[in-house]
Amino acid sequence: MSAMNVDEVLGEAEAAVQGASDDAGLEQVRVRYLGRKGEVTALLKGLGRLAPEERPQAGAAINAAKRRLTALIAERKDEIAAAELTAALAEDAVDVTLPGRRSGSGGLHPVTQTLARVEDIFTGAGYDVVAGLEVEDDYHNFEALNIPPYHPARSMHDTFYFGDGTLLRTHTSPAQVHVMERQAPPIRVICPGRVYRRESDLSHTPMFHQIEGLVIDRDISFAHLKGTVTEFTRQFFERDLELRFRPSYFPFTEPSAEVDVQCVHCMGAGCRVCSHTGWLEIMGCGLVHPNALKMSGIDPEAWSGFAFGMGGDRLTMLLHEVNDCRLFFENDLRFLEQFR
Ligand code: DAH
Repeated sequence: MSAMNVDEVLGEAEAAVQGASDDAGLEQVRVRYLGRKGEVTALLKGLGRLAPEERPQAGAAINAAKRRLTALIAERKDEIAAAELTAALAEDAVDVTLPGRRSGSGGLHPVTQTLARVEDIFTGAGYDVVAGLEVEDDYHNFEALNIPPYHPARSMHDTFYFGDGTLLRTHTSPAQVHVMERQAPPIRVICPGRVYRRESDLSHTPMFHQIEGLVIDRDISFAHLKGTVTEFTRQFFERDLELRFRPSYFPFTEPSAEVDVQCVHCMGAGCRVCSHTGWLEIMGCGLVHPNALKMSGIDPEAWSGFAFGMGGDRLTMLLHEVNDCRLFFENDLRFLEQFR
C-alpha cells in the first residue's frame, strides 16, 4: 500500500460525498468507505502486511483520511438537510399578493323572482298568499271546480295520476277550493306554486308555475276583475299596456275570459314573439261559477267572486324577453346569472 492509494480512495470518496443528494445516498457512501467492509476500513486492515517501519506513517495517513471523510459526510448531511428545508418552505409558501378566490354569491331563480314580484303587488292590495298542495285528489283538482268525471275539460289537462286516487295538481285552481272550504268570505288570496302536466316541447315543460287569484265578497262584478287585472299588469310590466278580454270558457267561471296584453316586444306592431298578432295571452279568468261556490260551502245568492290564473314562467319570459321556457329549467349558470 502506498500513500498514493490512500489519496486515490479519499479523492473518490470526496466526489461520492458531494454527489450524494439525499440522506439515503449519503449513507450508502458512508458504508462504502467507512463501513466494516468499507474501502478505508480495508486500508486499515492492510496495515499488517506492511513492513513494521512503514506502518506508523501509513496508519496516520489512513486515519487522517478517515477523519476528513467523516467530517465531509457530516458537513454534507447538514447541507442536504438545509436544502430540503428550503425546498419545503418554498413549496408551502403563500403568495399573499395573489388575488383571493371568492365564493360566488347565489341568486333567486328568475321565476321565483316573478312569483315574489306578483306576491308583492297583491299583498300591497290586501291579498293573503296561500300555498295550496302539489299532490291533490281528484275532487279538489277537478270535481269541486265543476269538472265532473266525464267532462271534456279533463282531456285538456294531461294529468299525472298516482295509483291511489291522488294526482299532481294540473293547475293552482284547487288552492281556491281549499281556501273556500276553510274560510268564510270576504276572501282575497293569491296562490302561487308549481303545477304538473304530461307535456314537453318548445313552449311546455312537465312542471311549470301558476298564480291563482280569488276574491269573494258582496256584489263582486266583472268590473272588479277588469280593474284588478288592469292595475296588476300596469304594475307588473311597469308600463301602460293595452289589455283585451276575450270571451272564453272554463267550467269553474261564468262568464269566463282570456286576457291578452299588448305585445311587450313590439308594442302591438306584430313580431315573432306574438306570432304577428300584436297580443300576448297572459291569463284565464272569470266570475266564480255558482256551482263552484256552492260545492265549497259558500252561498252564491249572498256572495260572488272573481278568479284568475296566470303562468309564472310565461310572465317571466314576457318580462325578460326570454323566448324558450326550457331555459328556466336547464340550470345553466350563464343564463341564470343574468337575473341575479
Ligand atoms: N286553471 C286554469 C288553467 O290552468 C286557469 C284559470 C282560468 C284559472 C280561469 C282561474 C280562472 O282561476 O278563473 O288553465
